[in-house]
Amino acid sequence: MLSAKTKLKNAENLKQFLLERNLIDTNFTSKVKQGEIFFPVKEEIKKNDYKIKLNDFKSQLIEINLKEKEKKISLEDLLKEKLNSQEMKLIPKTQEIVGDIMIIEIPEELEKKEKMIAEVYLKLNKQIKTIVKKTEIHSGTFRTRKVKVIAGKNKKETTHFENGIRLKLDIEKTYFSARLANERLRIAKQVKLNEKILVMFSGSLPYPLVLAKNSPAKEIIGIEINPDAHKFALNNVKLNKINGINQKKGKNNNQNTIIELINGDVRTVLPNIDKKFDRILMPLPKTSEEFLDIALPKIKNRGIIHLYSFLNEKDIDNEKIKIINLCDRLGFKIDIINTIKCGQHAPYTFRVCFDLKCQKNK
Ligand SMILES: C[S@@+](CC[C@H](N)C(=O)[O-])C[C@H]1O[C@@H](n2cnc3c(N)ncnc32)[C@H](O)[C@@H]1O
Repeated sequence: MLSAKTKLKNAENLKQFLLERNLIDTNFTSKVKQGEIFFPVKEEIKKNDYKIKLNDFKSQLIEINLKEKEKKISLEDLLKEKLNSQEMKLIPKTQEIVGDIMIIEIPEELEKKEKMIAEVYLKLNKQIKTIVKKTEIHSGTFRTRKVKVIAGKNKKETTHFENGIRLKLDIEKTYFSARLANERLRIAKQVKLNEKILVMFSGSLPYPLVLAKNSPAKEIIGIEINPDAHKFALNNVKLNKINGINQKKGKNNNQNTIIELINGDVRTVLPNIDKKFDRILMPLPKTSEEFLDIALPKIKNRGIIHLYSFLNEKDIDNEKIKIINLCDRLGFKIDIINTIKCGQHAPYTFRVCFDLKCQKNK
């Protein structure tokens, strides 16, 4: 049986990745052995881009004996009785799961059958309580979007688990992407002892909390303009017992991280913060470049800025030159030490993170 194995600490993130792409072979059970977990996976996972992605979860494909489950009905089994073959092809291959809410896309041609389709998803995924459909893309300053509940409990609030943190949020009132779990951990792993970190555009707080739980950061400041997101963020600090209360740290993470949150426009708030940071995160891919003029003066010499952008693959190299020139005009020499594609936004368009090492021009 083909399985994807990883260390237990990466299990949550790998499982989310496999579930969202329908790559788990649900006919078999996963197995835990000597600190590692083996997920039963479909042959389709051998496709090259999936294989590359598995490295992010420190996961390898391996043949192993896994126990067969009692025969269960699949999504295809249930739907093919109700949809014709053309309609079957329109069923999206991936869904996003936030806490116990599944977010699906329903193509126009299937709108009349959306309730029936959603009921099938609900029946097959016992951990899911609500199915919503996207009715628009993220937009506006708050980067929020409307969704419509089509099956299950009528709610839009949920608690999501990721990288050892809990995040309570409303999927309509605040931006959140479960697909960035691995990217958040990638950044947490770069953080050195006692770093002071600024998270511009901190939302309901996924980045600061993942950093606080998984790195030896000393202090994290989050700035967020959306009052609803800020309210969830304040509550999430308590929910995760940050700020010195029972905060558990592993080895090398031997102190508690203090999180401070500010509700406001980063453009007016940041210039008044009399501090410099070892690391600044700018997770607003649509326009984060426009805020480099206020971020650069707050970075320590040789500090790191993580700058996000949505880019077509063919534009990435030009974008690097643009960023280097822009920072130069703002008085900083930067080295782009990493260029990470951390999600696909549209065909050929990626969410890209540039890790910038910054030095003031002499
Ligand atoms: C793409 S979302 C990312 C949120 C969060 N970091 C996450 O990953 O879930 C960008 C966030 O930036 C906030 N935002 C946009 N413009 C802002 C500004 N000028 N000052 C502070 N926050 C801003 C939005 O309200 C939104 O929550």
